[in-house]
Amino acid sequence: MNEAMNNLIQCHDRILAQMEQLKQIVEEIASSCFPLNPFQANRERLEEFFRFMATRGVLHTRQEEEALFPILLRRFLEAGIRPGETPADVMESEHREAEEILQLQKKRFAELLELKSDRPEDYLSFCALMLELVNRYRRHIWKENNVLFPMADTLLSEEEFEEVWNRMQAAAIGVQIKI
Ligand SMILES: [Fe+2]
Ligand SMILES: [Fe+2]
Repeated sequence: MNEAMNNLIQCHDRILAQMEQLKQIVEEIASSCFPLNPFQANRERLEEFFRFMATRGVLHTRQEEEALFPILLRRFLEAGIRPGETPADVMESEHREAEEILQLQKKRFAELLELKSDRPEDYLSFCALMLELVNRYRRHIWKENNVLFPMADTLLSEEEFEEVWNRMQAAAIGVQIKI
């Protein structure tokens, strides 16, 4: 595969590593002794996870949506797939769903730290949704690595991949300025 795709795949590996970490953290929280606030002990690790997703995670999504997907979309439309129903559209809607869960969890994390709730169910429902998020990311990345990216590899020319790579770099600069 070319530079652009390799870069996106390496980023998937980093996201998957974060998801593995997150799974371990929430399993620890779920099995810790209440009524001690189980978030305090894992606060920094969770904050680091949210920070990663707000920086590297956001950049990865932007690089897919601003660089790869628009160029791939042309080919899907040429092939007669209806706008809004292409594999790129499906991936974009999965991005929005994951972002929604992430935002919700970030808010709940702050609230639970603040409230210092002693109700185990508050923490357990937070953990359950985090595990769902882990599974969603794993499924999403599997689809991109094994279906969408090989499709792109077949459909796009060398020049188009160069355009993807240039757009990916432009997206990276945009994100760095905004952060
Ligand atoms: Fe994606
Ligand atoms: Fe991705």
